[in-house]
Amino acid sequence: MSRAVVYETFGGPEVLDVREVPEPHAGPGEIRIRVAAAGLNPMDWGLAAHPALAAQFGVTVPAGFGYDLAGVVDEVGDGAIGFSVGQRVFGGVMAKAAADFTVVATPAETLWPTPEGIGDEVAATLPVAGLTAAAALSAIGLRSGDTLLVGGAAGGVGVFAVQLAKLAGARVLGTAGEGTFDFLRRLGAEPVTYGPGLADRVRSLAPGGVTAAADLFGTETAEAALALGVPPERISTVAAGPNPPGGVRATGGVDADHGALARITGAILAGELTVPIAATFPVEKVREAVILQAGRHVHGKIVLTFSLTTDERPHRNERSPGD
Ligand SMILES: NC(=O)c1ccc[n+]([C@@H]2O[C@H](COP(=O)([O-])OP(=O)(O)OC[C@H]3O[C@@H](n4cnc5c(N)ncnc54)[C@H](OP(=O)(O)O)[C@@H]3O)[C@@H](O)[C@H]2O)c1
Repeated sequence: MSRAVVYETFGGPEVLDVREVPEPHAGPGEIRIRVAAAGLNPMDWGLAAHPALAAQFGVTVPAGFGYDLAGVVDEVGDGAIGFSVGQRVFGGVMAKAAADFTVVATPAETLWPTPEGIGDEVAATLPVAGLTAAAALSAIGLRSGDTLLVGGAAGGVGVFAVQLAKLAGARVLGTAGEGTFDFLRRLGAEPVTYGPGLADRVRSLAPGGVTAAADLFGTETAEAALALGVPPERISTVAAGPNPPGGVRATGGVDADHGALARITGAILAGELTVPIAATFPVEKVREAVILQAGRHVHGKIVLTFSLTTDERPHRNERSPGD
């Protein structure tokens, strides 16, 4: 037997159960991953709460839980291509990441070898948040010399967006609550409080103007950027739904370019990008993890861990600077 997070009805964290399930095995063309860590994203509990959203992703109850994962391939079925037993991998698997074992059909285009030197907890944070941040910046053609306003800069996506923008040579202003200002400064952003009057506060901070914006939380930052005269094609949003304000660019992780993850892992290995992990929870505490993230004041990422973790190699860059 092995464990998996499952839910049989749609709802809040209370519907998530950690169940003993028969141990799955790789069939023809499939691999089995022994999961070490699963990164948590708002999408995960959004799917569990909203049947219409789940349907868009082909998820029906009873359902598994979680998308981002890292672990090791421990079975390779006949004819499976691209993977070998013992290979460390990370990536995304829809609604089946939060389990001791998960089986994936090959070719698996959203799984990659985990680079040596990057631990499982960090690797499990990268696919959704890292790619979404990269897409939010490429959609607006971010370039050196830009003054970029990032909305929701301290969240799971924001921590990547801020650091990637700094690496690209931009000046970065990031919205956050006041208690988050020091955290954002350590990532390289100049903090500005979200809420009414945002455009005025940004104007004071950057009298020379803002040239681009990435809104990672609702629509407030996109609207402020429009009010500040930023052209809509230089404003992106990942959290505004299908009708973003004023013609700004709605984007998401699926729009990221093929090299984005390699750039992120390269920056981590070079010590240029850190992944702040706000909390790790053993999978048994998945409900607590979801409640924490759904409060929407987490700084960085939350990761579920599994007792079957075998990777004890030294990790780098797992904690935020100074946290
Ligand atoms: N389209 C896609 O492909 C895609 C992919 C990933 C995520 N998303 C969406 O992107 C959004 C961000 O995801 P995430 O993982 O970064 O979320 P998250 O980690 O839950 O974001 C938490 C952050 O939001 C900040 N925040 C709270 N209230 C805010 C407000 N009123 N205005 C601005 N910031 C506020 C918090 O800052 P303080 O603690 O300082 O309050 C906190 O640091 C979510 O809506 C998610 O669904 C979309």
